Amino acid sequence: MNQTDFDLRILMVCLGNICRSPMADGLLRKKVKEHNLNVHVDSAGTANYHVGSAPDKRMIETARSRGVNIDFLKARQFSSNDFFDYDIIYVMDKSNLENVLKLSQNNLENQKVKLILNELYPNQNKHVPDPYYGTSEDFMAVYDLLDNVTDVIIQKIKDGTIR
Ligand code: 4NP
Repeated sequence: MNQTDFDLRILMVCLGNICRSPMADGLLRKKVKEHNLNVHVDSAGTANYHVGSAPDKRMIETARSRGVNIDFLKARQFSSNDFFDYDIIYVMDKSNLENVLKLSQNNLENQKVKLILNELYPNQNKHVPDPYYGTSEDFMAVYDLLDNVTDVIIQKIKDGTIR
């Protein structure tokens, strides 16, 4: 299926594309399938440190403990082509936001970039904390935040308030 065959194309972005954005990607893919939505989901990192790697083992295990499989995902770096390929680019924190916006060429592209937690906590500009140097509780907290926000995203897609 070609990218243009989808009703909506959503890209999840973090720094390394091995913890937060693959988790957001895996959760949204699973829910899109469950709700029979014609939405393409992918993820990328602003950095190139982990290109080609599977998600972090701690994130894979956290996801697996809640019945979500993310071990098939492979990290890639965000590129300016993603502004063309995606309708919405959800970033996890302010640093990701700045790094993505540095590559944008115009206002139309800027408007595609959103802090993901603003879907759950409108206008509060909250961040999904980076769990990389954290504990298993930090990974679970990231899972819970992303589980909650992807529920809101699914509902908004169904309501037609995200497009
Ligand atoms: P992520 O977490 O951005 O959620 O994938 C990180 C992964 C790797 C690094 C930092 C954050 N790192 O510095 O290698």
